[in-house]
Amino acid sequence: MIVKKLKEEYAKLDGQTITLQGWVRTNRNSKTVGFIELNDGTTFSNVQVVYADQLSNYEQTSKITLGSAIEVEGVVVVTPEGKQPFEIQATKVTVLGLSDHDYPLQKKRQSFEKLREIPHVRPRANTYYAMFRLRSVLSMAIHTFFQERGFVYIHTPEITGNDAEGAGECFTVTTRKDDKYEKDFFGKHAQLTVSGQLHVEPFALTYRNVYTFGPTFRAENSNTTRHASEFWMIEPEMAFANLSDDMDCIEEMIKYCINYCLENAKEEMEFFERMIDHDCINRVKAVANSSFKRMTYTEAIEHLQQAKDQFENKDIFWGMDLQSEHERYICEKIVNGPVFLIDYPKDIKAFYMRVNEDNKTVAACDLLVPYVGELVGGSQREERYEVLVDKMKEMGMEQETLQWYLDLRRFGGCVHSGFGLGFDRMLMYLSGVQNIRDVQPYPRTPRNLVF
Ligand code: 4AD
Ligand code: MG
Repeated sequence: MIVKKLKEEYAKLDGQTITLQGWVRTNRNSKTVGFIELNDGTTFSNVQVVYADQLSNYEQTSKITLGSAIEVEGVVVVTPEGKQPFEIQATKVTVLGLSDHDYPLQKKRQSFEKLREIPHVRPRANTYYAMFRLRSVLSMAIHTFFQERGFVYIHTPEITGNDAEGAGECFTVTTRKDDKYEKDFFGKHAQLTVSGQLHVEPFALTYRNVYTFGPTFRAENSNTTRHASEFWMIEPEMAFANLSDDMDCIEEMIKYCINYCLENAKEEMEFFERMIDHDCINRVKAVANSSFKRMTYTEAIEHLQQAKDQFENKDIFWGMDLQSEHERYICEKIVNGPVFLIDYPKDIKAFYMRVNEDNKTVAACDLLVPYVGELVGGSQREERYEVLVDKMKEMGMEQETLQWYLDLRRFGGCVHSGFGLGFDRMLMYLSGVQNIRDVQPYPRTPRNLVF
């Protein structure tokens, strides 16, 4: 029997003998009776196992250490007056794998920093235990959202020959000790992808609506709580869609994901509300029921100029790249909720974004949310061949390696748009967990790679 099923059916099973396997979360006892909180991984909460000194191995059972794997045979007893709706009165307890005394998760609470050093055991600590199931549920939410709407899931490559974002923050993939890439494995310089976007665009011009969802790598040397060197990104791409359609899709997706997680990771979300962010459920519910504001970059700059004394970086001017303190000010103080900033100066955005009529700005949108900052970055793509060629020249980019991308504009190119949702940041947003290192099973950040 698994605990998930037991919790659904305990009333029917009252008085019956069942067998469970799982890991010991706590074990406390007196001379005659003991209590084990057992968790078998199938659901967030534990099951209470009661054992009495009638048990032939009472002495041994009372010494079972935290983290041990055990099998329990026992009777289901419904306890209407108890703290839990039922308990298991053990008739037999078998140790399957005893945990040594240096098991790191003892009763005392440990800091997230310490727990990051032990990624092989930290999933069993409550915050991570809740987080990694939420991660799984959110993945499913994403897939369900897009699949229900007919989007085709495309697996774009992890090893690429292009730097999609043109930011030069790529990890090189090589088997050589020198940098003679022409003699290297692929006969040229190869790198880990920073975005699947360029590779997914051809598929949008085939299936109309598509998405990628996979790991992404960036060698940014920014040691912040919101940047990881390996993170997951969802990148939808839609043909015949403009920037406004793009934002509609982002908004619908975020709301869908919130509702899906509240429904399918209920205990986990309740845990986060209890232990991490006391307003988390109300906060995300309010977002799911709100309508996201839209504001131009130019307007945002005006707001920031009026409040410039509050910032560490007080030099606010049109054309600047917004720092996270500025982004947070806009969504936390001005809007008090999610906001799309649109129409950014073209010089601070990627080459593929469509140039607006003013010839100064591009049809880009960043979704900023309180506490996390930028959650989504999207844009309408430049579909005009000549304009794109000129833009690449202006930015000093090589045309040759991206000729295939340009050619899409000659082979049935059309208005199309897409965006990238930072999956890990979405988890931070949902749970209130403030460091990206605590939403990823094995976080990779500058100077940090455990296992
Ligand atoms: O804004 P970005 O760089 O956009 C792109 O890569 C586009 N190609 C997306 C597209 O239009 N298809 O990244 C998108 C999102 C960001 O808004 C952020 O949430 C997340 O990816 N992100 C990171 N998350 C964690 N760690 C990092 N180092 C991240 N860099 C970006
Ligand atoms: Mg961005």
